[in-house]
This record gives sequence, structure tokens and C-alpha cells, in this order.
Amino acid sequence: MRLLAFFSIVVLAPISGLAAPATEVSRTWNTLGERGDNLCNQYKSPPQLCTPDPTVTVAQTAERAYKFYKAFVVDGDAKTMFSLIDNSYIQHHAGYSNGPQAIWTLFCNGKPAGTAANSAWCFDASTNMSYARYSTVDRWRWVDGCVHEHWDSNEKIPTDKCYKLNSTITA
Ligand SMILES: *[C@@H]1O[C@H](CO)[C@@H](O)[C@H](O)[C@H]1NC(C)=O
Ligand SMILES: *[C@@H]1O[C@H](CO)[C@@H](O)[C@H](O)[C@H]1NC(C)=O
Repeated sequence: MRLLAFFSIVVLAPISGLAAPATEVSRTWNTLGERGDNLCNQYKSPPQLCTPDPTVTVAQTAERAYKFYKAFVVDGDAKTMFSLIDNSYIQHHAGYSNGPQAIWTLFCNGKPAGTAANSAWCFDASTNMSYARYSTVDRWRWVDGCVHEHWDSNEKIPTDKCYKLNSTITA
């Protein structure tokens, strides 16, 4: 896998005409259904969490919610995913305690939860809830620009009232 990832850097850089940073390359790579980096040995707890910031706007929260979905479901990018979760994360999944530390070991291996093709995403600005559908449906409440609370029992992803992002963000 490492060898192939390295190969893609060599091939993609001249095509784009840019010296693409490694993270861009791995994002491209991951859209092909590959895993993100396995961070379990390097980090025993999330390397970075979200600092609540009341000045974050609804539009910015929608962008963050998309970034969170993509990191979690499509890219298996645990570092980015946890950088959007606050330290007082409230968990409603039975058997797990509150706090992002309690779920780090579920995600640190870099395995994406789904693919872009078999998943869906929604942010409802009227409730500050975001949703991801893959093999199940998750719901998260965003507070001050961070994921603050999570549910995954009998959730339904809205089909209407989903925030429309600027197209450049999802491109
Ligand atoms: C989306 O694009 C419009 C038009 O380019 C811009 O005015 C607006 O600030 C953008 N929104 C965000 C959240 O970046
Ligand atoms: C959603 O979050 C924004 C700040 O991002 C806040 O102004 C608004 O009151 C929140 N809405 C709800 C329903 O909690």
C-alpha cells in the first residue's frame, strides 16, 4: 500500500502541475476506497480536538460538518475527524462513555466507514444537526463549531432541508 501511495505521488504531481502536499495525494487516493493512515501506534488518544468557538457561523459549521463526514466515512482520516469533536462530546451509544477519548480506538486504524458512492450526508441548519448514512445512520449535534453530541439509534437522514454547500467544497 505504501509503495503504491508513493507511486501515485510521482504520477499525480506532474499531471496537476503542482507539488501536491502529501495530504492532498492521500485524499485523492482514498476516494478509490483505500484506507487512511493507521494512527493507533502513534497516538493513544486523539492528537487534536476541536476548541469550541462561538464566532463560528452556521455556514462554516455546515462546511465543517461535511469535512467531518468525509474524514469519517470516505477517507478514514481519524486525525481530521477528531479535530472536529470537542472534549465534552456526549455519547448516546450504549456501552461507550462520553468524551472523544472513548471512541479513538474505533477509528484510529484509518478504515473508512463507507465510500462516497454508498453513503450520504446532510446538515440541517435549523437544528445544528448533521447526519451520515452508510451501513447505519449517525446524527451529531454541533455546538460552537464542534461536534458535541452523538446518536445512532433509529436515526433517519433528512432528504429535504439539507444545507447546500458551495460547490468548490465538495468538488
Ligand atoms: C460561498 O460562495 C459565495 C459566493 O462565492 C460567498 O459569498 C460565500 O461567502 C461562500 N460561503 C462560504 C461559507 O464560504
Ligand atoms: C445553531 O448554531 C448557531 C451558531 O452556529 C446558533 O446561533 C443557533 O442558535 C443554533 N440553533 C439551534 C437551533 O440550536
